[in-house]
Amino acid sequence: MMFSPELKELRAGNLHRTVIDRASKQGAHIFLEGREFLNFASNDYLSLAGHPDVVRAAATAMNEFGFGGGASRLLAGGSSLHRMLEEKIAGLKGTEAALIFNSGYAANTGTISALAEEGDVIFSDELNHASIVDGCRLSKAKTIIYRHRDAEHLSYLMEKENGRRKVVLTDTVFSMDGDIAPLRDIYNICLAQNSKPDSQHSTLLYLDDAHGTGVLGSGRGALAHFGICPEPWIIQMGTLSKALGSFGAFIAGSRNIIEWLTNSARSFMFSTAVPACSVAAALRAIELIETTPKLVLQLWKNRNQTVGMLKMKGYDTGGSGTPVIPLRVDSVEEALRLSRHLYEKGIYAPAIRPPTVKTPRVRITVTAEHSEEDIAMLADALPSVKI
Ligand SMILES: Cc1ncc(COP(=O)(O)O)c(C=O)c1O
Repeated sequence: MMFSPELKELRAGNLHRTVIDRASKQGAHIFLEGREFLNFASNDYLSLAGHPDVVRAAATAMNEFGFGGGASRLLAGGSSLHRMLEEKIAGLKGTEAALIFNSGYAANTGTISALAEEGDVIFSDELNHASIVDGCRLSKAKTIIYRHRDAEHLSYLMEKENGRRKVVLTDTVFSMDGDIAPLRDIYNICLAQNSKPDSQHSTLLYLDDAHGTGVLGSGRGALAHFGICPEPWIIQMGTLSKALGSFGAFIAGSRNIIEWLTNSARSFMFSTAVPACSVAAALRAIELIETTPKLVLQLWKNRNQTVGMLKMKGYDTGGSGTPVIPLRVDSVEEALRLSRHLYEKGIYAPAIRPPTVKTPRVRITVTAEHSEEDIAMLADALPSVKI
């Protein structure tokens, strides 16, 4: 049978994956395989995916606009809500404009390949998300990988290159480690590049704020967290699918950048528009973040409580500084064992293995909806020493 040897090899290495689907809405408590689980696996940080206001906004939009977009946005697939959301996102991110994409994956692959062309040079953190890696692969620019969160290494590598244009790519929050990029240092390096008297071509800084939006900077994202002004040479990508509880993604930046992407990002141009109901859900989610500060505060309270508990139990949470908390273990087998152990105790927290990460781990994500009892239940279920 086709691919049988490959599948056999994956199974032999404990690297075979299967899909487990929910029989309930996303939230702190979910139903899987006929049982209720305490959920520490989703990126629905603010628990907005099932929030009644968000669901109502989506339902209202569905009644008004129907479900499917029907065509690419450029072929009239968008609704009036799309433009409203773009204005809202531009306000949230402090930029002139924004553009909605169908997913974070589509935003990264389409934008990176549109920003960096043959003759340009991309600098990418070694632990950037797979969709950034694929964006680099699609671009004809030379790609140089710098050591994880190592601004000095980035600076050293940038000094050696004289490409037509330099594009620095980094996740703001790394999705599997929960650590935060040293944005102030990276910003200063890009600023210095752009300030050189002989600098003919601008350096762009591209931030994947998928896990920062709604989480850092009172929900505004990583730039607000660091107090950095959104310069015209900074491009902020974010998803609607994580803390905003919806589906889709966006790029926020200068008017020129957005106009260029509208005319060149193939994943925007040649793909059906995000349905209006997803757009309405994201709009409502941003309004909730802006008007209900306690949502983000609760998320951080829960995150800090969880990290405190994990440290007391002796777990190595690496450099995590966010609600994404890895429990690093020594082997794939150990990660699977720990995840299975939790599963048997009614807690869902998947093992993360290669090729997603080099170091196996169980990934815990905390949300605003988790109660003190939920976190205590996780504490009780986790063995004090690694199993
Ligand atoms: C850092 C990062 N970028 C991009 C994506 C892709 O976003 P989406 O799920 O909307 O395709 C993800 C999501 O998994 C992510 O973690």
